[in-house]
Amino acid sequence: MRKKIIIANWKMNHDFYETTSFIRNLLKFIFERKIYHKKKIIISPSFPFLHISNQIIQGTTLNIAAQNIHYMDNGSYTGEVSASMLKSIGIQKIILGHSERKKYFIETNDILFKKIQKGLQYNFDIIFCIGETLIERETKKHFLIIKKQLEETIFKFSLKYIHHFIIAYEPIWAIGTGNTAYPEEIKKMHEYIRFLFKKKYGENISNNISILYGGSINDINAKNIFSINNVDGGLIGNASLKIEKFLTIIQS
Ligand code: PGA
Repeated sequence: MRKKIIIANWKMNHDFYETTSFIRNLLKFIFERKIYHKKKIIISPSFPFLHISNQIIQGTTLNIAAQNIHYMDNGSYTGEVSASMLKSIGIQKIILGHSERKKYFIETNDILFKKIQKGLQYNFDIIFCIGETLIERETKKHFLIIKKQLEETIFKFSLKYIHHFIIAYEPIWAIGTGNTAYPEEIKKMHEYIRFLFKKKYGENISNNISILYGGSINDINAKNIFSINNVDGGLIGNASLKIEKFLTIIQS
């Protein structure tokens, strides 16, 4: 069955001390407030701190995810990190397809397909982001764009891999802007994504795949957003950087 999932995408934020003390404090709060078995909480720190973060959470219910991988195993790709490197330090989850990667690092659907392929080869769980730009929404192409993003990536993989995916619907115009999508817009898109999974893989997969919303979720709007039908949790950027805000979101 689908679980509620909360993911903290820290992007290029938090140094060694901030990362480790945040995770230790979070574990303390989760234990004190007994929120462990009700939801899945995933933290995504920067590459240099994945190893220590993963050591800290051993034996707890917290999970760690990397924010990216390269699609090659190794080679002359200065500054890149491979799936096998992450596996060698015990990481089991990755975020792929974030719109900031698409915007600043020109990750196309073709590149994402290769990254998914590599991620699945190493048995990663993949948090896969999809979303439309403001222009695409204003010109009413948003449904088409989402369909295309799925068809050119995840939908190229057979049913047996689908349990590895968590989908994060993140309208690009809502990320880091303070503007969340309207509840009705979120509801319609989540319904549509679930419908696409049903058409492609059948009812069972469609009922069981987790579809999260992302884009300016904060401690004030989280409760409303999480109560929308078909929203299984959230991918949180800015508001996940402060522990009190993040805890309020978890408890929402
Ligand atoms: P935000 O970021 O919560 O700061 O809008 C969300 C994301 O980029 O995943």
